Amino acid sequence: MIFESHAHYDDEAFDEDRDELLVSLKEHGIGTVINVGASLDSCKTTAELMEKYSFIYGAIGVHPSETGELNEENFEWLRSRCDLSKTVAVGEIGLDYHWPEPEPAVQKVWFERQLQMAREVKLPVIIHSREAAKDTLDIMQALHAEEIGGVIHCYSYTKETAREYLNMDYYFGIGGVVTFQNARKLKEAVEYIPMEKILLETDSPYLAPEPNRGRRNSSLNLPYVAEAVAQIKGISYDEVVEITEKNARNLFRLQRQHSHDRNIAIL
Ligand code: NI
Repeated sequence: MIFESHAHYDDEAFDEDRDELLVSLKEHGIGTVINVGASLDSCKTTAELMEKYSFIYGAIGVHPSETGELNEENFEWLRSRCDLSKTVAVGEIGLDYHWPEPEPAVQKVWFERQLQMAREVKLPVIIHSREAAKDTLDIMQALHAEEIGGVIHCYSYTKETAREYLNMDYYFGIGGVVTFQNARKLKEAVEYIPMEKILLETDSPYLAPEPNRGRRNSSLNLPYVAEAVAQIKGISYDEVVEITEKNARNLFRLQRQHSHDRNIAIL
């Protein structure tokens, strides 16, 4: 089944139909979801979601644009959320220079702190990097992020940068953008990245693929992404689903689901 490696179901865009939508995922072939924290609040909701739904796991972290809210005290709280049994990653963390706030110096401090946190709690990282290719790579290399492991979410850089991350044995989150007509650079990168390093993701509620571009995104759109990857790679849709699920289970250290997961007892 499809493994959704990056969604934000805590987002208010899902307030009206969250439960209905999440319960319907399985019948549409979506087997597992990583709900990714991006702020202190969303980490709290992520913890609630993974407690409520057997197929949801969580990533705990603060997005670069939200790092202005961090201090020593709440950082301790954040770290404590990493000990929850269904927390499988630290993220999303990184650098975002598209938005001016907070200033890069602040973003860098908390990126480094959260990378170190991931190392200490022994979890892989989910990296958000936008218009900050060089600084992200510099920090990751300096802190030996290859020893931590992780995924570059919503990969948007060139294949040359992809090579650097492959050298660190990182995975690449590929989402709706790969279906866009003008995504030539990303299609080249996907062609270049080995299939064993690709994860499927949506970044819901953002970045819906064609033909639903501009609308609210959800994991139900992942078949469009898988189909686009299949075309670029010249393999079947089923192979893409199977390989990317295996990749995600490797990275997040999740075993294949067993039959008892069929009755989602605590819905
Ligand atoms: Ni995200």
